[in-house]
This record gives sequence, C-alpha cells and structure tokens, in this order.
Amino acid sequence: MKHLLSIRDLDADTLTALLDDADRFAEVLTRSVPKVPALRGKTVVLAFFEDSTRTRSSFDLAARRLSADVVNFAAGSSSLSKGESLRDTVETIHAMGIDAMVVRHRSSGAPGQISEWIDASIVNAGDGWHQHPTQALLDSFVLRRRLGSLEGRHIAIVGDIAHSRVARSNMEAFTALGARVTIVGPETLMPASVSPWNVEVAHSLDPLLGELDAVYLLRIQNERLDEVLIPSNREFRSRFGLTAERARRLPDHAVICHPGPMNLGVEIDREVTANDTRVAVLDQVAAGVPVRMAVLYHVLGPGRFPAGDAGTPASAEEVV
Ligand code: NCD
Repeated sequence: MKHLLSIRDLDADTLTALLDDADRFAEVLTRSVPKVPALRGKTVVLAFFEDSTRTRSSFDLAARRLSADVVNFAAGSSSLSKGESLRDTVETIHAMGIDAMVVRHRSSGAPGQISEWIDASIVNAGDGWHQHPTQALLDSFVLRRRLGSLEGRHIAIVGDIAHSRVARSNMEAFTALGARVTIVGPETLMPASVSPWNVEVAHSLDPLLGELDAVYLLRIQNERLDEVLIPSNREFRSRFGLTAERARRLPDHAVICHPGPMNLGVEIDREVTANDTRVAVLDQVAAGVPVRMAVLYHVLGPGRFPAGDAGTPASAEEVV
C-alpha cells in the first residue's frame, strides 16, 4: 500500500496484517535498544497544519524507532502564514527529497489532494471531520489486546459523532473487524445519514450499559460546534456522560476508551478516569507508537514485518 488515507481503503485482511505487525513492533519496543533499522535512509515529514499532542509525537517516535530521518514542519511558523498556498508549501517540502508525508489538516480531503500533487507516501493523521485512520487502528489494537478479538463484540461510540473524524474511522474499522457498533448521542450530534455505515443508532446510553464490551467516548468538539446543538455540557453529561454510577453498570470485562483530549466532567468523570482499571486511555496513547510504526513500515518498507534483516535487533552502533 502506498498511502493510508482512509480506513475504507483497507480490507479486513490488511487491517489484521497491520495489527499483527503492530504486535511485533510492540515487542521491539520492549528491547533494550527499542529500535530497528527497517527504514534507514528514508525521510518522513510530519506536516501538521492543525494542532496535535498525541498523534504528532507518536508519529515522530514511530519514525525514529524505525531509523527514518524525521523533519517536523510547523504550519504556524511556515510561509503559509505569509500566504504561500498549500500546494506550493507541500511541493517545496517534497523538492527536498522526502519519502513520506504525514498530514493533519482542518479540511476534509486535504491528504488525498496532496497525494495527487506529490509523489510521496501520504499518511492521513486526521483531516477535518473525515478520517483519522491511525487512531482507529490503535483503538482496534487496544481492544483486540484487551478483548482477544473484536468479532461479535458490542461497542458503543458515544457523543459527538457528527463532527468526529475518529467516529467515522472507528465505525469502519470496528465493523470491518466483526464488531457490532451502536452510535449513541443526541439527535443533533448524529450524522445526517448513517447509511454509509453498518451501525445501529441509539439516543440513550443507559439501556445499553449492561451488554457492552466496550464504550468509546468522544470529545464534544467545541471548536467545531455551534453551541445550540446541545443545551449545555451539564445536560450532555446527565444523559451521555460516563459517570461512576454508569461505569458500575458496565460488565467487568468492558473496556473504556477515549481518544483524548478529554473534557473531564462532560463525557467522562474524573472519578472514573482516576480509579477504574477498565479505562484504557493510556494504553491507547502507548499503542500509537507500534501502530504508527506498522503503518510507516507498510507504506515505505518492503511489505510485512519482519522482512530480511529489518527485524533483527539493531545494535546501538547500527542505528545511530
Ligand atoms: C482526536 C483528533 O484530533 O482527531 N484526537 C487525537 O488525535 N487523539 C480527537 C479530538 O480532537 O477530539
């Protein structure tokens, strides 16, 4: 695969192959030198035209753990602020000789557009409301580890579905891996039509709690939201927030996920994040590194990992 633009581009076998490779890279990360020479000589540019904490730093680490060279491009301090167009900006970076560009952009479709302008592998790190495929992969990785498999599992994705690229990617990844998905939230935060996805819709969380294998909470996207869509954060919490009382009604094996950043006291209470071992939020963050290693390896490497000596433990001298 040359690019990763959308979960829709991946069939179940490719999704599973990526997750299996991520398992192998997770093992690499436990070694005393947590690094392999697999992408030595390759150059990866991180082009983040929108803010990020987790996604950017884990792509950065993932590329370095594979021995690639990494260039960070910060939109705020670039010539974009002097009016250079997106096309000129990416063509300029490409002219320096790069192999992959990891793109985050506030406009849906920007990474796809860039893949037509330049001849490099493009990895979508989140575009508008559209897609966030590596987030869906790392969430699938965590759920697969905690639940064994997603096949037949019931997962509720709760909250602001309409404005969430994470929801779109995750609905597609979870259902492709065999899960039953219910999206839950107020009518005003639901997409206009759910027909593109094989999911059920509910407007109340309470009746589902006892039968869920996982609950995936989404941030209210305040920056993308017209305030009239929900009466108040307090009202949202009282109907959809994961309070300690609701968490008690989830099965013991249920997994509680949130992609971050969390609005504590809105979609999830601090009491739950602080005390409940079913909360997988830090596992999700940790999974970002091996999963993004697998993605970079699939778009730039020789195929599946390990291939040739890419999988041999690198000595310290070999990787500097
Ligand atoms: C998400 C994003 O930016 O799409 N965060 C993330 O990548 N972990 C979700 C969000 O902003 O709510």
